[in-house]
Amino acid sequence: MTTETLTEEIKRHLRNTTPCLISVKEQSASTNLELKQWAAQGAQDGTVLIALQQTRGRGRLGRSFFSPPNTGLYLSVLLRPEASDAQLLQITVLAAVAAARAVKETCGFDVEIKWVNDLYRNGRKVCGILAEGIVCPETGKTEGIVCGIGFNLFPPAEGFPQEIASCAGCLCDTPDNTLLPRLAAAFLNQLYDIRTRDRAETLEEYRRRSLLIGKWVNSLNGAFPGTALVLGISDEGGLMIRTEDGIEQTLTWGEVSVRLTQ
Ligand code: BTN
Repeated sequence: MTTETLTEEIKRHLRNTTPCLISVKEQSASTNLELKQWAAQGAQDGTVLIALQQTRGRGRLGRSFFSPPNTGLYLSVLLRPEASDAQLLQITVLAAVAAARAVKETCGFDVEIKWVNDLYRNGRKVCGILAEGIVCPETGKTEGIVCGIGFNLFPPAEGFPQEIASCAGCLCDTPDNTLLPRLAAAFLNQLYDIRTRDRAETLEEYRRRSLLIGKWVNSLNGAFPGTALVLGISDEGGLMIRTEDGIEQTLTWGEVSVRLTQ
């Protein structure tokens, strides 16, 4: 499908209540970076940029996000709420639930959420989310959020790079032209729906879909020493843990690893 046809198809699946302005490009260095530039030039809430390939796709914690051509959905949406750093975590939580619902709607199966921003299917990561604040250089105030999401739709022609081959997965085994526009629209519909709803309800769903609650995890970046038991997800979207020494704390950043065969 051409980028024009894809744009039309996405619009066809959007609800009237999803006020999004869609642009689809063959390639972007990073849709998050590009949309942040558009935001600085005054782009409005609901501006969406989708690329069929990214040459410098960004992940959390300074990592890159593998974004080969035509096998993934790389989408960024500009949200302009009254923003604060705390909201970055909350938006990530809302986006994860919206993405899980969109997968159920378009692919028919449930995925699990690994705090804070990853979706897993059968023990493999199929989607990641990166929410970034747009800070006004003069006032230092966060003026909006770019919420970027990357889905692995189909197996890439050359396979996944060695460093992620053991943990990356896809939503579908065989290519299906209709999936990208359906999934993009379903995600945006769900995100805008969730934004108008009671947060508590969405958090409950996040907890129900959590891959980590009740499991022992290791800190991947020193957020706590040793291993810890995951007790739950706080109302702000933090990871509530109890370390082996019995100390309870709530993580608002970082990443944990878990044995998925546990
Ligand atoms: C992660 O897994 O750590 C987050 C990955 C986020 C990837 C998406 S793809 C669209 C948007 N543009 C980017 O450069 N990153 C996000």
